[in-house]
Amino acid sequence: MIKTTILDASTDNIIYCADLLKNGEVVAMPTETVYGLAANIFNDKAVSKIFEIKGRPQDNPLICHISNISMLDELTIDLHSEIFQKLIEKFWPGPLTVIVPRNKKVSNLITANLDTVAIRFPSHIVSRKLIEACGFPLAAPSANLSGKPSPTSANHVFYDLNGRIKAILDGGICEVGLESTIVKIEDDSLRVLRPGIISVDMLKEVTENIVLDDSVLNQIDPNSTVISPGTKYKHYSPNADIVLVDSSLDDFRTYVSDKLKENVWCAVFDGEQKCFDKNVLTFGYNEKDQAHNIFMVLRKFDELGASKVFFRCPKKENIGLAVYNRLLRAAAFNLVVL
Ligand code: TXA
Ligand code: MG
Repeated sequence: MIKTTILDASTDNIIYCADLLKNGEVVAMPTETVYGLAANIFNDKAVSKIFEIKGRPQDNPLICHISNISMLDELTIDLHSEIFQKLIEKFWPGPLTVIVPRNKKVSNLITANLDTVAIRFPSHIVSRKLIEACGFPLAAPSANLSGKPSPTSANHVFYDLNGRIKAILDGGICEVGLESTIVKIEDDSLRVLRPGIISVDMLKEVTENIVLDDSVLNQIDPNSTVISPGTKYKHYSPNADIVLVDSSLDDFRTYVSDKLKENVWCAVFDGEQKCFDKNVLTFGYNEKDQAHNIFMVLRKFDELGASKVFFRCPKKENIGLAVYNRLLRAAAFNLVVL
């Protein structure tokens, strides 16, 4: 078993982790969205360790993380499209991943044989320094075991990956708490493959032509071919069964009142907990808080040994859409509308 160490993000530790990455190891790094499990995108052996460590299916492609725009050359052949330039100007560095045609230099392991590549320029200073120290882009999925909630602290990563990786760079609690928004450029329109805190309304400042991919709100047949392979897998699941309840607070209270006992819990918005005398956690007041807290709260239910959790349904617009998208998956699409 490998000894896993959580390292503070000192310059020395960043250089140490960059050396590990140069030697073909994987390292967990903080980003502003969630923690990532990083490897050199140009080292297939290193990249294949990511799949092994996470238990990730090989047909699920990885995002390439860059720390300066000049790194784009090696990744894509779409450098000059107007829409890409506008996205870069407006949202990078930041929590937006863009899918563009790939440069052949990027291996099939990264792209899962697609002819596109996912690119992200994180804003978190530690990830930027780490990529800079490496001098190559880093492939990084979220640093959780496949199927588990994404990690938003170094301790979450430790909990999932202790004994599997050498180092976790600690950059504190992730500011956003939800994975990046993913968009695919399709001529002059944008297809949203995964909603995030960069909302559809914000993207509209770049183009009015925005399509929400079917997979954002619907369950995908695991045998089908989809644009974003990650959307067809079970995701974000704590041990408990999650039920998402779309209703008013009054109807929610009536629905769960005789169900809350032993290991059956509910999760409501901040301020609503006083309506319940036991087995209740809150997951934020507004959508931004909910995005920040949702994965933390899902993990908390595991710690509490919850076997079933009824969740209040968040708003479905703007940032709320991203929270709703993750909760739908955590609930394996078990949605009750009252
Ligand atoms: O915020 C984030 O994006 C975090 C941090 C670490 O940067 N990363 C992350 O990676 O969430 P991951 O692997 O958990 O999710 C990446 C998603 C997957 O659903 C994958 O299928 C999709 O991006 N993806 C990657 N490359 C793609 C491509 N070429 N076309 C379509 N979807 C792609
Ligand atoms: Mg993930």
